[in-house]
Amino acid sequence: MLDIVKYGEPVLIQKAQEFKVFDQNLEKLVVDMHDAMKRDHGIGLAAPQVSVSKRLFIVGLDDEPLRVFINPRIVASSEETSEYEEGCLSFPGLYFTVVRPFAVDIEAVDIHGKPFRLSADGLLARVIQHEYDHLDGVLFIDRVSPAKRRRALAHYSRMLNM
Ligand code: NI
Repeated sequence: MLDIVKYGEPVLIQKAQEFKVFDQNLEKLVVDMHDAMKRDHGIGLAAPQVSVSKRLFIVGLDDEPLRVFINPRIVASSEETSEYEEGCLSFPGLYFTVVRPFAVDIEAVDIHGKPFRLSADGLLARVIQHEYDHLDGVLFIDRVSPAKRRRALAHYSRMLNM
């Protein structure tokens, strides 16, 4: 089982690299990430969270098949925003409200290297944006004001020491 790395690991703040080879190693990585995500009750997971600095994330909403995004690009974002209380498997137990665009269009390739485009809104768009950020080393604490970021990190470190 893959370990999910926690805040403080340098891999979480690095920019991840594109995939160029689509082979069985990639398929195994996706299967292993799916297992790790389910084990920790997540709905999304990005490769850097399992120490693989590559541009890949998965989304697994309830009752939906697993979605795999490789070398993704968010090509459009709605002006309309929404607020939602987010968590992150790299910050166990920490939840706070993040404002993001309500809808996005994303282009990516699938596990066989085949391109696709998806228009998403609501929770799916939310998770896509959160996971996409991981590929650029951006964490959900970076998407709030500096004051809120400080409070969230202080709360998180208190939780770790309890
Ligand atoms: Ni996360």
